[in-house]
Amino acid sequence: MNRSPVSVLSQTDLNGMAIPVEQLEANLRDLLTTHGYVLLTNVLDDFDHVLFCQRLGSLIPHINGATTWDIRPEPDNKNNVYYPGSNRTFAPHTECFDFQGLPPRYLSLWCIHPAFGEGGETTVADTFPWIDQLPDSERERLEEVKFDWENPHGSGLGICSQHPVIERFGGDRIVRFSCKNLVHSDGDSVADLLRRWQFLFDQEHVAIRYERNDMLVFDNWRMLHGRSGFQDLRRHLRRVQIGAVIDKTSNTEVNTKINAVTV
Ligand SMILES: [Fe+2]
Repeated sequence: MNRSPVSVLSQTDLNGMAIPVEQLEANLRDLLTTHGYVLLTNVLDDFDHVLFCQRLGSLIPHINGATTWDIRPEPDNKNNVYYPGSNRTFAPHTECFDFQGLPPRYLSLWCIHPAFGEGGETTVADTFPWIDQLPDSERERLEEVKFDWENPHGSGLGICSQHPVIERFGGDRIVRFSCKNLVHSDGDSVADLLRRWQFLFDQEHVAIRYERNDMLVFDNWRMLHGRSGFQDLRRHLRRVQIGAVIDKTSNTEVNTKINAVTV
């Protein structure tokens, strides 16, 4: 079931003028805290997506060292392979669940060329209500057990990391998950969690359909994201990974929330 996004922010006001960037950031942070994601719409051509994202934290390089990553079907479109450069559906996951260190705090994707026709949405769903409804014993197990995570960059590359599904970091909670890459056997109790979270994702996800320049920002410590398959091979998104701002003396996240500017 596809739900439309309710956490939507316009980059422009009623007169089509750009909203001051400080106000835009404050409103975006408020919506991120409430919903875990924000879709920025009505984005002008001169909006600098990268510069804006740097206001939220430092950019984390991708696997090739580049801070921006183009997401589009590759020329040799590996259509039969489960791969970001294909046009296939992508299963729910948090980004960089395979990292040993802190995963990106936020992910931001913006649209260079929308997909016309069916599919091509980024799908997101909030895990926090699911976690809050777990029995204490199951939540504690997900915080304690270091599960094996399979390398997401190709089948047969083996285990790449071991970590719990839920971690405490200062006053925050970090969720790391992938419906496809958590190593388990059918009788494992975590197999039931995988089924339940895939079902909840299918039921509750919000589907983001992009116009050109639209930008999605979501909390990667909280939200699962995926993608619906598509046919329009011109679909082109660009993304950055944004790191948490950490206070090194207390090893906690700095609260960079700014009070929303009211007008
Ligand atoms: Fe992803």
